[in-house]
Amino acid sequence: MKVAVIGAGTMGAGIAHVLAVGLHKVILVDIKKHILEKALGKIQINMDRQVKKGIISKQLKEDALNRISESIDLKTAVSQVDLVIEVIAEKERLKLELFKLLDAYCPSHTILASNTSAISITKLAQITSRPNQVIGMHFMNPVPMMKLVEVVKGQETSVDTTNAVVSLAEQLGKIPVTVNDAPGFVANRILMPMINEAIHTLKEGVAGVKEIDQVMMLGMFHPMGPLQLADFIGLDVCLFIMEVMHKERGDKKYAPCSLLLDMVEREHLGSKTKIGFYDWSKGGKDLSVASAFKQ
Ligand code: NAI
Repeated sequence: MKVAVIGAGTMGAGIAHVLAVGLHKVILVDIKKHILEKALGKIQINMDRQVKKGIISKQLKEDALNRISESIDLKTAVSQVDLVIEVIAEKERLKLELFKLLDAYCPSHTILASNTSAISITKLAQITSRPNQVIGMHFMNPVPMMKLVEVVKGQETSVDTTNAVVSLAEQLGKIPVTVNDAPGFVANRILMPMINEAIHTLKEGVAGVKEIDQVMMLGMFHPMGPLQLADFIGLDVCLFIMEVMHKERGDKKYAPCSLLLDMVEREHLGSKTKIGFYDWSKGGKDLSVASAFKQ
């Protein structure tokens, strides 16, 4: 299958990685060349790690890297692909604009999938002339490690489209779980309010960063606490998702915590900007609480 991945950030690089290891030809698209170069560097480092751990062979790594090409020219990049996976920022207006272009530029058989965390698949589908071929393909971070793909059916998504995406996810070694379209779907509808509540708990001084994470890890058997997970996902992404759920559901329980807004404003976005609730300047090793939250 020939696949275009649009957006070469945290998730786009991971999705291109698993597709290429899964023997698919991938064209990775972004708006700037240096972003693509950075993404390819990251993919190479992550594949090297997989070789060291014996997950993939050196030959498979080299062949997989050769299956990835990059482009900043959307129109040409998608002109001959069977599937597009959209992985740009969680902004409805940007995604709608992109889906309109994809519908115009892609062959008629192409499936248009979105990795959106919370935006309505039905809405994205309705801007195209092929709503039956639009679907959510929600990978988890880090993509090469996480098994789940939340497959989100829009109101008009066809059975053929769903089956094609489910088969692809299985072929990539993932476990697809099919759900219906609703703000936040299943994963983020449950996860994001929990993260937002952890941020409220911190803001109110009920406990410190480490203590909140320890309670959830030791008491609820979570492998990672909610504040560390928020840093890992990206606080901007968490904020976008809360804003979508708040707007779509009109319920104040989904209003993002003011501390989350402040941190995004200051670009304290978590691991990607090296500072969030934790200090990530040592690349995630010896993780210590960010100085602003030291008690
Ligand atoms: P990111 O900010 O790391 O990457 C987004 C990339 O899209 C950037 O490189 C940007 O230059 C590029 N971009 C923006 N507009 C573009 C356009 N019109 N054409 C081509 N490229 C464009 O974002 P991240 O974290 O990778 O998230 C992307 C999507 O995946 C969002 O919808 C997010 O909600 C979703 N997601 C994120 C997860 C996470 O843990 N970060 C987990 C699951 C889903």
